[in-house]
Amino acid sequence: MDGFPLNDRPRRNRRNAAMRALVRETRLHPSDFVWPVFVVEGEGERQPVEAMPGCERYSVDVLVEEARVAFELGIPAVALFPALTDDVKDSVATESTRADGLLQRTIRRLKMALPEMIVITDVAMDPYSSDGHDGLVKDGEILNDETLPILAAMAVSQAEAGADIVAPSDMMDGRVGYIRDALDAAGHDGVGILSYAAKYASAFYGPFRSALDSAPKEGDKKTYQMDGGNRREALREVDLDIREGADMVMVKPALAYLDIISDISAAVDIPVAAYHVSGEYAMIKAAGERGWLDADAAMQECLLSIKRAGADFILTYAARDVARTLQA
Ligand code: PBG
Repeated sequence: MDGFPLNDRPRRNRRNAAMRALVRETRLHPSDFVWPVFVVEGEGERQPVEAMPGCERYSVDVLVEEARVAFELGIPAVALFPALTDDVKDSVATESTRADGLLQRTIRRLKMALPEMIVITDVAMDPYSSDGHDGLVKDGEILNDETLPILAAMAVSQAEAGADIVAPSDMMDGRVGYIRDALDAAGHDGVGILSYAAKYASAFYGPFRSALDSAPKEGDKKTYQMDGGNRREALREVDLDIREGADMVMVKPALAYLDIISDISAAVDIPVAAYHVSGEYAMIKAAGERGWLDADAAMQECLLSIKRAGADFILTYAARDVARTLQA
């Protein structure tokens, strides 16, 4: 810092839009985004998600057309989340491995219509579980090792249907290696693993759980998702997942954990993703609806901060809106 004269004038570099564009260090691009989407049974279905203004649960036919719009906007990937009715949920997530399940049919239809678009699928029991937990529940405890074969079978079933990347979001210990082995044994060595490596137990998942009706029936997720006070532990989780074979790692949520994104991106040489989660999206939308702030500008500012912190790409429900603004 020594070289700057005291009469230095940083404002010279902010003089007008062209100058600011010239010296901008970080910028958003549609290819930074993964668009997370909810899928439901039926035809022609669009069910608004109340707590996430602008988001809908689509039936497969609608989703294919909406994903096409996203892809044409330059968004390279979707992340799929099935919203299932209670009658198909059970304690062992049977529905998650059904070759003709809602998610598997969605993957096949999407890959047929848009073969170039990357399809990312979530690996965790909660959308399929009658207990609403990411792992197997026994006497109020979330079992770790007993959950692994279920997750691995789920990942293989998703790969079989055509998923490009599976994304374990369950936070069981050892699941990345277990899933990698199962994928390889089933001949899916080309399918990648995006591990939710540093996933914190967060209040910001609320709107997502209401969209999928997947909230835990009992207790919370604090015995497997990380504690918000811990920074170094994120590096431990990331290190383990990379050694087990993760191709990319994720931090989640994003905004309240920018320091974690920054630490991890400085420490690893594989891509780092961040999930701008449902509650982070909802609070900006809600304030915007009340006229309390400019929601589009606030959304872009938040996403830019996530990228500036070190994320290589961002899962965000605002992907299409922001991509449209960037193209305009
Ligand atoms: C499921 C899962 C969750 C989210 C992504 N995958 C919820 C949870 O862990 O309870 C949250 C995403 C969001 O809030 O947008 N394991």
